[in-house]
Amino acid sequence: MVSSIIEVDRVSKQVEDATGLLTILQGVEFSLAPQESVAIVGASGSGKSTLLGILAGLDVPSSGTVRIGGQDLFALDEDARAALRGARIGFVFQSFQLMGHLTALENVMLPLELQGEPRARELATEMLGRVGLAQRLRHYPKLMSGGEQQRVALARAFVMRPDLLLADEPTGSLDHATGESVMQLMFELNREAGTTLVLVTHDPAIAARCDRQIRIEAGRMV
Ligand SMILES: Nc1ncnc2c1ncn2[C@@H]1O[C@H](COP(=O)(O)OP(=O)(O)OP(=O)(O)O)[C@@H](O)[C@H]1O
Ligand SMILES: [Mg+2]
Repeated sequence: MVSSIIEVDRVSKQVEDATGLLTILQGVEFSLAPQESVAIVGASGSGKSTLLGILAGLDVPSSGTVRIGGQDLFALDEDARAALRGARIGFVFQSFQLMGHLTALENVMLPLELQGEPRARELATEMLGRVGLAQRLRHYPKLMSGGEQQRVALARAFVMRPDLLLADEPTGSLDHATGESVMQLMFELNREAGTTLVLVTHDPAIAARCDRQIRIEAGRMV
């Protein structure tokens, strides 16, 4: 049995820019058990989104390892990494990343269809109802408000009931009441499906609801 859903060991990230080598992350390490929740907090530019991208295997660290359910993410090739991500990880980007040519409903159905789920339409419709978008199923992203797009992105991640949900400021574009209902849904998923939550947030009230908090300052855990 694997006791950690995610194990992060000495992850660092450097990039080359015009002025030389820039260190974005340095020696980040932590592990999370199934069903744990953690808030990643820290100032703008401290490296939170970069860390989340690496945890999802969307970005590659300069050194260090990330294990998901015991599997070394960066020992896999891109296709195997994408398959692991599709099967186990839900990701909500800071910039939503919806498919512009698909409706809200089609965006939420897409990951289910990729997994061969025959009830994709029904499950996607139900989840969009739970995030308050029952009246927006046929809207395209460009016709939706920022908060509505964010809720479609959340529904797309939630509907998969992933083992691990990585969410980058998931309530950043929502008013207080809508943000609260989305957070409740996220913690329901945490309890009911055993989903491990990794949330980047600037909201101390949300951070306080997580089991743990990890603070990043200039790329380092403090
Ligand atoms: N590919 C890159 N090349 C150069 N610099 C980068 C690159 N990616 C990120 N950075 C820089 O690394 C730092 C961390 O960026 P990141 O997006 O992780 O911050 P963040 O903590 O998520 O900030 P915010 O709270 O504003 O979303 C920033 O200063 C950013 O400009
Ligand atoms: Mg960010």
